[in-house]
Amino acid sequence: MNSKVTYNQALDLLKSGEVVAIPTETVYGLAGRIDNQKTLENIFNIKKRPSFDPLIVHCYKASQAKQYISGDIKLVECLWKVFSPGPLTVVVPKNDKISSMITANQNTVALRIPKHFLVRNLLENLNIPLAAPSANLYGKLSPTKADDVVSIFSGKVPVLDGGDCEVGLESTIIQPDLKNKKIFILRPGTITKEHLQKCLKDNNFDFSVADKKNSFHPGGQIEHYQPDVPLILVESDTEDSQIISFLKSKYPSRFIQKLSLEKPPQIIARYLYSDLRKLSQDKNNIIFVNRTKNQVGEVWSAIWNRLEKASSKKFNLT
Ligand code: TXA
Ligand code: MG
Repeated sequence: MNSKVTYNQALDLLKSGEVVAIPTETVYGLAGRIDNQKTLENIFNIKKRPSFDPLIVHCYKASQAKQYISGDIKLVECLWKVFSPGPLTVVVPKNDKISSMITANQNTVALRIPKHFLVRNLLENLNIPLAAPSANLYGKLSPTKADDVVSIFSGKVPVLDGGDCEVGLESTIIQPDLKNKKIFILRPGTITKEHLQKCLKDNNFDFSVADKKNSFHPGGQIEHYQPDVPLILVESDTEDSQIISFLKSKYPSRFIQKLSLEKPPQIIARYLYSDLRKLSQDKNNIIFVNRTKNQVGEVWSAIWNRLEKASSKKFNLT
């Protein structure tokens, strides 16, 4: 069930309208050309993704991405100068070159210029953008290694192996509101509010940056990124041994496993999904993660955004 393909095979498959799992610097993506309805349909089917949840369009460079935007692009161009290629996705008003299947009938499109050299080579040679959601089944953990993708789709989807993803968490998604001079963060990532604020200030954009919480947007589901065994979020400043005995009393027949967060946040982000995947291999396991008061700062907000959605239960032991 090994479905790995070479770069040239991946390029030919994508050219002919097949769906291929490709590496990006954030997570692996399930990619297909944006100009083929059947290809787009296949992406939704393979991922079991509901049609109301739109896809990100991956472009080679700003000049290509610009072709799909309607309206004023000065701000977006400025952001791309600083953050692209890289883990930033911008949601902007679309024009009619983008099909409504990609955007789930919305009048905006999510655009990203990825950094991994293999996806960059593919995009340059294809000369057409690739629509790509993360290469996981809907609601489950995103893959950060080629072997993860092979096992998620039981070898039925061709995979281009680009090694382990460097960032490990999905891109930051932002949506500028030009009228009100605001940038909303729809999904936090490793490009943080502070990075964005600095870029705006340095370039004389009098905009503020805010999290968009508690409002409906397509990918804002509460449950997401779920491992195959329960993940329990424990708020506590006590010793692990106390947390473990508490959990043992609640779940006497399970093996209690700790997801350790004792590294710098960038490193935790890089290995978060692969650590969760490892800890869920034994179906008797229960994973716990300890939230403490010192885990503050912007990359932590991306980490806790994923862990909150991945967890199925919360206990407060403070
Ligand atoms: O790092 C990433 O962004 C990865 C790699 C493969 O590029 N892709 C990724 O795609 O995470 P996906 O589909 O798993 O997550 C994209 C999110 C979804 O939650 C979707 O709802 C949201 O972006 N999205 C896409 N288009 C949107 C739009 N027009 N307005 C608001 N949200 C949008
Ligand atoms: Mg996803």
